[in-house]
Amino acid sequence: MMAWFSGLWSGGTPLIEPATQRDAAKLAELHAASFHRGWGEGEFEAMLSERNTLVHRLRLGRKIIGFAVSRMAADEAEILSIAIAAGHRGRGLSRNLLLTHLGHLAGRGVRTVFLEVEENNQPARRLYERAGFGVAGRRERYYRQPGGEQLNALLMRRDLS
Ligand SMILES: CC(C)(COP(=O)(O)OP(=O)(O)OC[C@H]1O[C@@H](n2cnc3c(N)ncnc32)[C@H](O)[C@@H]1OP(=O)(O)O)[C@@H](O)C(=O)NCCC(=O)NCCS
Repeated sequence: MMAWFSGLWSGGTPLIEPATQRDAAKLAELHAASFHRGWGEGEFEAMLSERNTLVHRLRLGRKIIGFAVSRMAADEAEILSIAIAAGHRGRGLSRNLLLTHLGHLAGRGVRTVFLEVEENNQPARRLYERAGFGVAGRRERYYRQPGGEQLNALLMRRDLS
């Protein structure tokens, strides 16, 4: 009974859907809250209008609580960004978002997917490893933090079949 109530109050089942131009402001807000260098609304508008960019939103009721963005080139794609709103992290929601996103990339003819992840970002690394990505390279001091600290990046790869 409690589960039914709490499910209802939190907006029901999260849905993964293609994002639209009308989501640009909300996506920019979510991105800015999740990354040091946030993408602006205009950047999202541009990406949402590009045929080679795929953007999915994770919607809970009327709220957008996550997104995944990737860019395709021939039969390869790069995941540019994925995030879940801070209050909804740690519940496994990113997994379905990523797997659905990968399914759509496969449907568009993508055979290999790459991404970069900060070496110490354990939730993200775990997400990608469980979704079948393997480490394909390492870039020393690739990310510069606002405080000047430099962090390493891992390049990860997964083949879709
Ligand atoms: C990365 C992110 C999308 C994961 O979303 P999420 O829905 O919270 O992820 P999950 O709840 O599925 O957790 C993912 C895994 O990380 C683990 N994890 C979560 N927090 C952790 C922590 N602080 N330390 C270590 N592992 C952690 C979880 O246990 C889970 O592993 P499991 O499947 O083996 O149990 C989310 O944390 C986020 O938006 N982060 C900020 C943006 C970001 O860093 N994006 C990735 C950029 S490459």
